[in-house]
Amino acid sequence: MKISLPLPSFFALAMSGFVLETARAVDYQEEIRPILNKKCFKCHTGPKSKGGLRMDTPDDFAKRIGGDDPVIIPGDPSKSLLTIKAGLPRTDGDAMPPPPARERGAEAMTSAELTLVQKWVSMGAKFEAGETAAAPTAAPGAPAAVGAPTAAGAMQTWTNSAGVSLQAAFVSLSGTSVTLKKDDGSQFDYPLASLNPESQALAKKLGGQ
Ligand code: HEC
Repeated sequence: MKISLPLPSFFALAMSGFVLETARAVDYQEEIRPILNKKCFKCHTGPKSKGGLRMDTPDDFAKRIGGDDPVIIPGDPSKSLLTIKAGLPRTDGDAMPPPPARERGAEAMTSAELTLVQKWVSMGAKFEAGETAAAPTAAPGAPAAVGAPTAAGAMQTWTNSAGVSLQAAFVSLSGTSVTLKKDDGSQFDYPLASLNPESQALAKKLGGQ
């Protein structure tokens, strides 16, 4: 789908949460382990791990990923016990952490944390960075970028991860957001992660990264 919508619609989509995350790989060590460490390790590390679920090291954890008695079914967070339990309402007796522990201060994952863990599961629950089939790959010479990657300042087509496009000029790239300029001269920031892989690549190219 390549339709050009006026900017307010582009934003409205982004704001409404309709924008799907792109296929950026989720890094276990950097992004997932800290969440589990904070919310789950207390009861799921060491020989006394609850429910026979040890998350100490990838090797321990991997024993319950796939296989006969899985808590994670790689590729399917909706059928994985771990993401199901972590997402249950806090009063549900099967929720993780268990409701009595929550009374004593154990915190559940936030919805952002759960979303990230679900994404990691749906991308195969891998422990090595970059070890994912879904990582965006741009073959050399392929028409990766929409719109000609010309010098900064020229109008480009930008497409977000929901497939909605707009025309704007590249201004700058800082960390996680790209600054774009509409043809009326007004500028706005847009999260890099909410662009599709081609537009992310374009922003990085124009931003010299
Ligand atoms: C305060 C201790 C505590 C914390 C914190 C905790 N759990 Fe548990 N967990 C348990 C207990 C006790 C069991 C075994 C009883 C059960 O399955 O309800 C269990 C079992 C499980 C199981 C089921 C294992 C199986 O095969 O039956 C999963 C999955 C799980 N926990 C995930 C999590 C996740 C994810 C977190 C972090 C968000 C977490 N737990 C945090 C105590 C805890």
